[in-house]
Amino acid sequence: MARLIFATANPGKLAELRGLVGGALEVVSAAEFPHPPQVEEDQESFEGNAEKKARAYAEASGLPALADDSGLCVDALGGRPGVHSARYGSDDAGRIRRLLEELREVPEDARTARFRCALCLAVPGGEVVVEVGECEGRILGRPRGAGGFGYDPVFWVPSLGRTFAELSPHEKSAISHRGQAFRRMLPHLLALAGR
Ligand code: IMP
Repeated sequence: MARLIFATANPGKLAELRGLVGGALEVVSAAEFPHPPQVEEDQESFEGNAEKKARAYAEASGLPALADDSGLCVDALGGRPGVHSARYGSDDAGRIRRLLEELREVPEDARTARFRCALCLAVPGGEVVVEVGECEGRILGRPRGAGGFGYDPVFWVPSLGRTFAELSPHEKSAISHRGQAFRRMLPHLLALAGR
């Protein structure tokens, strides 16, 4: 069976990808890879970071490699935290606190934001495919819900009337930036398996 490396240590993302490809491909995680390359995510875009990581893993392993980068882009903050989403504070609570503080004076209808995810598939030898997913929402004034991770408790989806933290993993994946990017990438992954 064809093998694919997914350059993530996040078990939730791994489970989401394995669920999507079913038995068509063997998905190996970065954690199972003996000497994972150290990749600094220093690019200006999600696409750039995902491509850098995927290329590094494909080269190091000799296998097709998939990598993602994602984050939250808030309009009133000129797109921040964007590619700096993971480093906007020392933990999830601190990152949310900083975000809410920066938006303190911003009225409800101007608190528009989107999660964005770039996925890159790199094949040894140089060929790459990038797919992007986005999910639109609004930043609440205070956290709501206990599920998910990261900025989920303050990311409110108008069409559902709930935050990401109030959705089941299945409901979130159906609309999320990452779910969309995964589904767009699926035909390229199945092509690796000859399907
Ligand atoms: P990474 O792509 O896993 O490195 O994620 C970057 C950062 O963006 C995370 O640490 C979170 O702060 C934020 N982020 C990305 N996707 C989500 C999501 O689905 N929910 C909440 N926060 C997210």
